[in-house]
Amino acid sequence: MRRIDKDQRARIRLTLNGRALSAEAEPRMLLSDFLRHSLGATGTHVGCEHGVCGCCTVLIDGTAVRSCLTLAVQAEGRDVRTVESLAAADGTLNPLQRAFQNHHALQCGFCTPGILMSFTDYLARNPRPSEADIRDVLSGHLCRCTGYAGIVSALLEAAGYRQSSESGSKS
Ligand code: FES
Ligand code: FES
Repeated sequence: MRRIDKDQRARIRLTLNGRALSAEAEPRMLLSDFLRHSLGATGTHVGCEHGVCGCCTVLIDGTAVRSCLTLAVQAEGRDVRTVESLAAADGTLNPLQRAFQNHHALQCGFCTPGILMSFTDYLARNPRPSEADIRDVLSGHLCRCTGYAGIVSALLEAAGYRQSSESGSKS
């Protein structure tokens, strides 16, 4: 691993949503700030900045991590994916995003990117989780608006338990 002096800016090279990028960062810079302020990936939200709310969740090499608890320098050489990677280039939502739309699983949307990225990782590893499993993973995310019911419905649809519906949730 490269040694970086605390006052020295390091050039971080990474793959962000399939694109090779690089930018400079101080050793103490958080990955969440690096993504938003240096790379323009503002879909990653920042709430508590100490690992509680989950809205800053991104994927590093396919694994969901809190970007507010990760230093930018730790992303060196890694594959980082943010919520901007989920929809197709023409804006078509992916199945998880569509399920959120179908079940009105967001209001202000502040928590949504982190939940989407957590469950992108989780559903890839556990394609048929129980509702209890879904609620367990969701407990790592704070949503101040929805009361979670629509989010759980959307995640159940994404896990294949419910029919897709454009008019609302169907149990
Ligand atoms: S901003 Fe990272 S967990 Fe809240
Ligand atoms: S939709 Fe507003 S915080 Fe979750």
